[in-house]
Amino acid sequence: MASNPDRKMLLVAFLQASNCSNYTGSWRHPDTVPGFLDLEFYQGIAATLERGRFHLAFIDDRLAMPDRFGDSFEEAVEHGVRVVKLDLVPIITAMGLATKHLGLGATYSTTYYPPFHVARLFASLDHFTKGRVAWNVVTSLNDSEAQNFGVAEHLEHDDRYDVADEFMQATSELWDSWEDGAVLLDKQTGRFADPAKVHRINHSGESFQVRGPLTVPRSPQGHPVLIQAGQSPRGREFAARWGELLFVIYPTPEGCKAYRDDLRSRAEAAGRDPDSVRVAPAVYVVVGETEEEAQRKLEHIESLANQTDSLTLLSEVFNYDFSQHRVDEPLSDEILASMTGLRGFLDRVIGLSGTSNPSVTDFIKASGRGTLSEFPVFVGTPAQVADQLGSWFQAEACDGFVLAATHMPGAYEDFVNLVVPELQRRGLFREEYANGSLRNNLGFARP
Ligand SMILES: Cc1cc2nc3c(=O)[nH]c(=O)nc-3n(C[C@H](O)[C@H](O)[C@H](O)COP(=O)(O)O)c2cc1C
Repeated sequence: MASNPDRKMLLVAFLQASNCSNYTGSWRHPDTVPGFLDLEFYQGIAATLERGRFHLAFIDDRLAMPDRFGDSFEEAVEHGVRVVKLDLVPIITAMGLATKHLGLGATYSTTYYPPFHVARLFASLDHFTKGRVAWNVVTSLNDSEAQNFGVAEHLEHDDRYDVADEFMQATSELWDSWEDGAVLLDKQTGRFADPAKVHRINHSGESFQVRGPLTVPRSPQGHPVLIQAGQSPRGREFAARWGELLFVIYPTPEGCKAYRDDLRSRAEAAGRDPDSVRVAPAVYVVVGETEEEAQRKLEHIESLANQTDSLTLLSEVFNYDFSQHRVDEPLSDEILASMTGLRGFLDRVIGLSGTSNPSVTDFIKASGRGTLSEFPVFVGTPAQVADQLGSWFQAEACDGFVLAATHMPGAYEDFVNLVVPELQRRGLFREEYANGSLRNNLGFARP
């Protein structure tokens, strides 16, 4: 199939509300700046991304420190293993004030917040940013998060998605509870808004009772753009029903293409236009003016990794304490079945390690957690990096990329200064923002 020459890549920045990126060694990088407790840190990154015409800056979240390893936060705090996660709302508000076009995505959990709160928050942010907001819908991972919200154990994997379906139903109804045009502000007649255009939702389900209406008029985008990253069969079913921007992790373009094809057909089977879902894999980019410089940078970044960081992050993500085992001990079926964290990630570890009972070492190697090899790493000159991004994109393995940072904020500055102009020169990436909302910039319809 000939690919469409007018198709342009999506670019999303994968941010954390701290100076430790997905790559835990990142905060030790000499060029990582320490100002993560200042709003200007986030505003500076936003301005760089907007200069590079990025579609979206998205911030991940976790509602607890990674303290499952050894049932302690000591290793995590000592080594700065993603222990700081500031509240996302003031950050994206400040980033919105520093920019005009950049999309702003925040992660919110359907397991630990109520639908009314989340619907009101995103509707308010969508008004303030004139329609630039996205919500990364997650169901959370582990017991540490549960215990920060007064719950002993995190819900089982598939059950969380059942709750999430109902959550999405309720939030969608809340966003639609004010019709467009309901606000009149007619001082002559004294009519503030038309009550015939404002509705109760009377949602009553297994997990939530919400009467409505929302206390915020319908927002510029109608609904925020919905980001989702379901990988497991149940997660994919959820993503195909609700998700618009789908974030994934695949080591090869073939795997990513199979996911994209699957999600497009699932969305179509659910009555949606397959083009209303876009798939973007996470990648790291290490770029230099010359190949040698890029290689030198890569070696330095890799030298910042540390094995305990990997174990800390594995324990967090699989909701299981990996400190209980020797590194070469194969983990039993029973132990694997007790890991209630990311199912899709567990399937990936089993698949890549080539054994149905991987050891701790297999987990570290196959997951790449805490190392650069968690995501594909594109290394080289701007032309070489553009070749690698272009080959995934042109093979229709994906619709764009989620760029994770090797160091903060230098990884974004390098990408914007060196790689973006090369992608634009090749016609793979846009030169300018489209007018209007994030939905408009992504080519998604307004609900
Ligand atoms: C790029 C990317 C970003 C993610 N960000 C978060 C996050 O911020 N918080 C979170 O709890 N989960 C996050 N996840 C995990 C997903 O929400 C999801 O649980 C995971 O991909 C596994 O899919 P499954 O739930 O179907 O097993 C992320 C996943 C990906 C691929």
